[in-house]
Amino acid sequence: MFLKNLSLINFKNFDTFDIDLCDKVNCFIGDNGIGKTNILDSIHYLSFCKSFVNLSDRQNIKDDEDFFLINGDFSRLDNEEKISCAFQKDKKKSFKKNGAEYQKLSEHIGFLPVVYTTPYDSNLIHAGSDVRRKFVDTIISQFDKNYLQTLISYNHILEQRNQILKNYYKTRHLDMEELEIWDMQLVEFGEKIFKARNSFITDTSEIFQKYYSLISNNMENVSLKYSSHLLEDDFAEKLSASIDRDKFLGFTNVGVHKDDFDFLLGENPIKRFGSQGQQKTFVISLKLTQFDYIKSKINLAPILLLDDIFDKLDKKRVKVITGLVSDENFGQIFITDTSYSRMPNILNELDIKHKIVNLSNNKTVTNYE
Ligand SMILES: Nc1ncnc2c1ncn2[C@@H]1O[C@H](COP(=O)(O)OP(=O)(O)OP(=O)(O)O)[C@@H](O)[C@H]1O
Ligand SMILES: [Mg+2]
Repeated sequence: MFLKNLSLINFKNFDTFDIDLCDKVNCFIGDNGIGKTNILDSIHYLSFCKSFVNLSDRQNIKDDEDFFLINGDFSRLDNEEKISCAFQKDKKKSFKKNGAEYQKLSEHIGFLPVVYTTPYDSNLIHAGSDVRRKFVDTIISQFDKNYLQTLISYNHILEQRNQILKNYYKTRHLDMEELEIWDMQLVEFGEKIFKARNSFITDTSEIFQKYYSLISNNMENVSLKYSSHLLEDDFAEKLSASIDRDKFLGFTNVGVHKDDFDFLLGENPIKRFGSQGQQKTFVISLKLTQFDYIKSKINLAPILLLDDIFDKLDKKRVKVITGLVSDENFGQIFITDTSYSRMPNILNELDIKHKIVNLSNNKTVTNYE
């Protein structure tokens, strides 16, 4: 699968932008603030129906304009797919495939899988467990249509249950029958979520270690460890065992909403024991693992967006990564850089099919056609 043409109108700093792309490596180079990340973000839009930078669609409209439009022509399983996203101030976002409007945006998720790395990825290591849960949940949602719905249902039931506990806190009255009904559903959805997250961790441990070793060129042992109340105990039993505590605190203390994923270098958390370069390598390996996992599930190579890959990584490691992702196992790749020579040199040394777009002078260089 690959993006053949991308066109933007009034998207962030671009009034108009239109470009044909290479099915292998595309490299956007230019100074800070020129719009490299914005281009990758527009591709993210076409896959996830939203920005990975801004929460609100409105912020993506170019200043002083009142709409933006993103058009992408894709080649997917030998079919041409025209995807467009339009947003006008104070109107509903319009998202279309081949001219037909999606009724629900969730129907589109997973159709054009994308894996992206950004400098913000270090949040995966340093931020709270919710960021890691969201990372794993987003991966699973790209191939499992029911998963997102299960998550929404779980959170809905959890809210209801917490409401009852909060009321108990005020009134000292608890309707045990009502609680049991919520518990049954919480267990049903929670177990499904647990299974999917657990499979992700067990299915990817080898490949994750492989990527890390290849990129760092050493045998440091790295791993992802799933930490969940459901690993050792039966969820239903655990819930009833914690009822006194839940009543005392006024919310649900056990369940998959408390899950976390430990990122380990040897036996130690990479957060405290890893250098910046090791942490960056860890996160990139994680993203490549994500790529492999999604590909193995849907038999389609996701588009890989590598934003600011030189941030904290030396040229040697970037060359290894570029070589790795140019392998036929991978599909189309987008890379950004501020240096005018670094990526062109690497791509020429490795003799990889590519297109280089210099956003500062609007020149493109290709080594194919
Ligand atoms: N809605 C908007 N309207 C106009 N300009 C915008 C809008 N949103 C973002 N920008 C501008 O886009 C520019 C940032 O672009 P982007 O983050 O893509 O740069 P970059 O090339 O990735 O830079 P860096 O090398 O620093 O990562 C900023 O100058 C910002 O002001
Ligand atoms: Mg950027």
